[in-house]
This record gives sequence, structure tokens and C-alpha cells, in this order.
Amino acid sequence: MTEESRHRFDTLKIHAGYDRTQHNNASQVPIYQTVAFGFGDTERAEQLVNLKEKGFSYSRIGNPTTAVLEKRIAELDGGKEAVAVASGMAAVSYTLLNLAEGGGRIITAANIYGSSFDEFRTLFPKFGIQFDFIDDINDLAQVEAAIKADTKAIFAESVTNPDTMVTNIEALAELAHQHGLPLVIDNTFPTPYLFNPIRHGADLVVYSSTKGISGHGEVVSGLIVDAEQFDYGNGRFKQFEEKDYVLGNEEEQVERSFVETFGAKAFTARIRVKYLRLLGAALSPFDAYLVLLGIETLSERLAKQVASTEKIARHLSNHPHVKAVHYSGLPNHPQHELVARDFPRGVGAILAFEVDGSETEAKKILNAVKIFSYLPNVGDARSLIVNPGRTTHREIPIAAREKSGLTNTWIRLSIGLEDADDLIADLDQALAKAFD
Ligand SMILES: Cc1ncc(COP(=O)(O)O)c(C=O)c1O
Repeated sequence: MTEESRHRFDTLKIHAGYDRTQHNNASQVPIYQTVAFGFGDTERAEQLVNLKEKGFSYSRIGNPTTAVLEKRIAELDGGKEAVAVASGMAAVSYTLLNLAEGGGRIITAANIYGSSFDEFRTLFPKFGIQFDFIDDINDLAQVEAAIKADTKAIFAESVTNPDTMVTNIEALAELAHQHGLPLVIDNTFPTPYLFNPIRHGADLVVYSSTKGISGHGEVVSGLIVDAEQFDYGNGRFKQFEEKDYVLGNEEEQVERSFVETFGAKAFTARIRVKYLRLLGAALSPFDAYLVLLGIETLSERLAKQVASTEKIARHLSNHPHVKAVHYSGLPNHPQHELVARDFPRGVGAILAFEVDGSETEAKKILNAVKIFSYLPNVGDARSLIVNPGRTTHREIPIAAREKSGLTNTWIRLSIGLEDADDLIADLDQALAKAFD
């Protein structure tokens, strides 16, 4: 246990992973805006390049500013190690490629972010990785029936977009582990403040820290967090057990695998050595700094945003021109018990509603709002509004969208830090105009 991990969330979000005595006592985390780091002497160079000594040599593989962010997110999420990458999509892609590289299957919830869905359906199969899409990821019989000899992992989002359905991580983790599979959870919507999948049994967590974690709509970034509890030497993951040239030493005629070399840290080491080093979606030190700055106010932002979202959800539920509100934080929601068990701080700052009319009225609302910004993002300090069927979820075939009930009369809101009553008034005037 590190010094920091004895502290609570609000102390960790300010201090975890940063020892100012190692950085000229700078109060803020310095931005190491440099590509490379001097080796010192030839002996140290050899130690570093042969991975015998830890240290920084080239910022595509690691950087001191980014390293603080990695340590901080691992501490906040109850994980052991993390890797920062250039976007949420890079976090999803690298994690799943690292697990299923060389061919295999992944079981995934069908109800996921549009680009993830599109990647799994149309791109990964071209790399020999097939996906089994599960309509209801909480139906364990459906999930278990999809497990095959070459299945490599189970993937789901903790809270789905845009209908905020919650995944029962504990049950899914138990099932995954019974079958020797790791559970990967995209925890973008709740952020580590509202939910920590690792504390409920997940093995790997991915984030688009573009969203609520950084929280100001100013930086595209992604994070991969590892619980270091899964054994990648269990015979299912050849890439972790085969001898790898970069881990060997030609002169000493030694060849080693990732599991032999890194033990419990094999997963994140492989992400860094293979995916960051060779595919290259590294997060810049300046962007890492922006994410760190955002994390400093994560709890304060989310606490207010969740309270406003609950108020707005209640208001919309009683609005005569709203057919349905999709927010699992409402007391009458079918998932209320699961939400109360796993999300004591609330389920998040995103909700969706269906207008009691046609797409024409939905479009009129989007064009009439004054405070809400009409754009494809969530988790900003500003409130955002979008029609997911025409934008963020366009990549999902209509038949698949219909299964989760998503039509073009749905509107998604991401609630920011403005006054909740002003936001309600803005929605009311837009609804009034639409149904005039
Ligand atoms: C749940 C989820 N995962 C991943 C992503 C991809 O993140 P990014 O835009 O940072 O690549 C998004 C983006 O909206 C998302 O909502």
C-alpha cells in the first residue's frame, strides 16, 4: 500500500502520484514538454533499453507528467497501474487488441458507444477478432452461452449511452472469472468518483478522459487502468507467454515472455512496449496536465452535476410533452435497486428523454435551446444537448438501435455546472416553442 492509498478520494485527487520533492518542489505538476531524456552514460543507456532499469527515455513510451496522471488515476480507481493514451478510442482499441491480438472472440454488450460498436462490428473482424454482441449484458445465461474456446474477454460499459442502463459488474466479473476471462469495463460515464469497477471485480477499466474526468471539454485523452489481478499466463493468451525479441538479450542469449518479465504487470507493460511504442497514440504531456487539472475538481463538479441532473430528470418526467425519461437515477426506474447498491453518489450527469411527438419537434428543441450547446460530447462544465440517433449513435445500424428503443425522438442531455433552474427554464421554453 502506498502512502497515498491510505487517503480518501478528495485527498488523492489532489496529491496521488506526485512527489513534489522530485520536481524542484513545484506546487503544480510540471509539464515535461520534451521528446527525449538523456541516458547519462552508456551503462545506464543499456540498462534502460533492456528494461532492466525503470526510467524515461522517449515520450512516446513514457513521460514524467503523464506518469503522474497514470499513478493518480490508478489510485483513485483502486487499480495498481495505469497507462495514459491519446483518446478514449485508443484506450478501448489497445486494451482489446492486447487481449485478442492474433485472433479470437470478445463478448460485448450491444448497448455501447457508437464508435466502439462500429469498430467491433466492421474493423476488428478485419484483424481476425470477432465480437459476440449481447442484447442484455445483465442476462448472464445469454453471456455464458456466448463463451467459446477462443473467447478472450468480456467488455461492457458500466453506465450506457444514452439510456444510462447500469451493468451488474459483480455478477459479470464472477461469470468471467469462472471461465478464465478478464472483464473489461468502459467507465467513462460515471468517472472514478461515482463508480470504481475494479472494486466490484473488474480486471481492466478504460476511460475516455475526454469526458467527465477532465470535465471542461478541452482535451481528448484516454486511460487504461489495471487491477493486476488477472493471470495472463493461464494458457489463453499466447502473446503474453511467447518469447519476445525485445524482452530478450541477444548477447546473453536470453529470451523472455511478458509474463516472465513483468509478472502481474504484464498487461500494462505490453500496452506500453507494443502499443504505445509501436502504434504510437501517446498522450502529450500538456494534455496530461490538463486532465490532472480537471481531476482536482472532479468530486465537486460531479456532486453538483448529479444533483442538477436528478432535478432535471424529475422535472422532465412530469412534463406534458415528454413521453419518457431515461435516467436510471430516478426512484421508479427498473434498475433502482442495483443503482442504489453500486452508485451511492448517484449514477451520473447524463440523461435522455423522448419527446411526445415526432422528430420534427425533437429538432425544434435542439434549435431553440439557448444555454445548452448542441454538440456531440458529454461531461463538460457546460450543458450539452444532442440527438443521438442522428449523430453519436449514427454508426449503430437501425435494427440494433431499435432493440434498445433508441429512435430519432430521443434527446440526450449532459448537465454542466450552470444553475439547474436556468437549465430547466431553457428546456421549458424550447419544449414550448417546439409544440407551439
Ligand atoms: C463510453 C465512451 N467510450 C469511449 C469513447 C471514445 O472517447 P474519445 O472521444 O476520447 O476517443 C466515448 C466518446 O464519446 C464514450 O462515450
